[in-house]
Amino acid sequence: MKGIILAGGNGTRLYPVTLTTSKQLLPVYDKPMIYYPLSVLMLAGIREVLIISAPAELGNFERLLGDGGDLGLRITYAVQDEPRGLADAFLIGADHIGDGPVTLILGDNIFHGPGFPDLLRDAAQALDGCVLFGYPVRDPERYGVGEVDDRGRLVSLEEKPERPRSNRAITGLYMYDGDVVEIARGLTPSARGELEITDVNIEYLNRGKARLVDLGRGFSWLDTGTHESLTSASLYVQTLEERQGVRIACIEEIALRMGFIDAEACYRLGERLSKSPYGKYVMEIAAPAPLLRAVR
Ligand code: G1P
Repeated sequence: MKGIILAGGNGTRLYPVTLTTSKQLLPVYDKPMIYYPLSVLMLAGIREVLIISAPAELGNFERLLGDGGDLGLRITYAVQDEPRGLADAFLIGADHIGDGPVTLILGDNIFHGPGFPDLLRDAAQALDGCVLFGYPVRDPERYGVGEVDDRGRLVSLEEKPERPRSNRAITGLYMYDGDVVEIARGLTPSARGELEITDVNIEYLNRGKARLVDLGRGFSWLDTGTHESLTSASLYVQTLEERQGVRIACIEEIALRMGFIDAEACYRLGERLSKSPYGKYVMEIAAPAPLLRAVR
């Protein structure tokens, strides 16, 4: 399974903060926003990731994450000159995807909840068509919306409907089989001139191959689109991290726990950041205190 993080867009709702930087590089509490979607891909067991961004920002993502080798990943980069819709990611990423399955995640989507790694792995293993992830929200008209029948099967999908048929938003995490590039190539741009991800999903639905996985109410899918929601997301992460002493979306820790890197490599990654609490945490999880001397 390949992965794509779409980190394009102009972030206009966050101006002036995003006049000189990409939204997906802004901090969500103690780490750049893109760490969160990258964590999701890693937890799904994905090691080959394409990051798509606007031309001016690509260098910054590359400076941050490099070729991914330090994390046991292979990260490559591609440019989206102008926002042409989410499904454009499959055209830009066609070579990266090849004819195998791919998971697309939007660079500003934050997911956190119990059992998420298992849920991701199960969804990837059972993939036949596409898997969408639904989440109940108060304002579904802002999102893609899915409707299910009384047996929980997906029956309709609409993009930002004026009168939503349910409160189930379709989140910015999508798993597809090898047909997605061909489907994206066949799309007609929407009224706003974009290749809509929802049209890709509707095509899978029409083929009887769209499955919905509901993320329950104990789960968090956070918005980062406005100053208020971005601050709330930071506070959410801060609250959990301070209370539990763990870090959410710590990519070095995930690389270690997934077996992508060993403890020594993880420790060295922490050492580079050792002036910050984040770096200290990475060192600590790589080498719990009594073992520190041995690792050094
Ligand atoms: C996009 C999709 C929408 C989805 C949302 C999730 O909307 O078009 O279907 O629910 O991402 O974040 P956008 O945020 O680009 O308006």
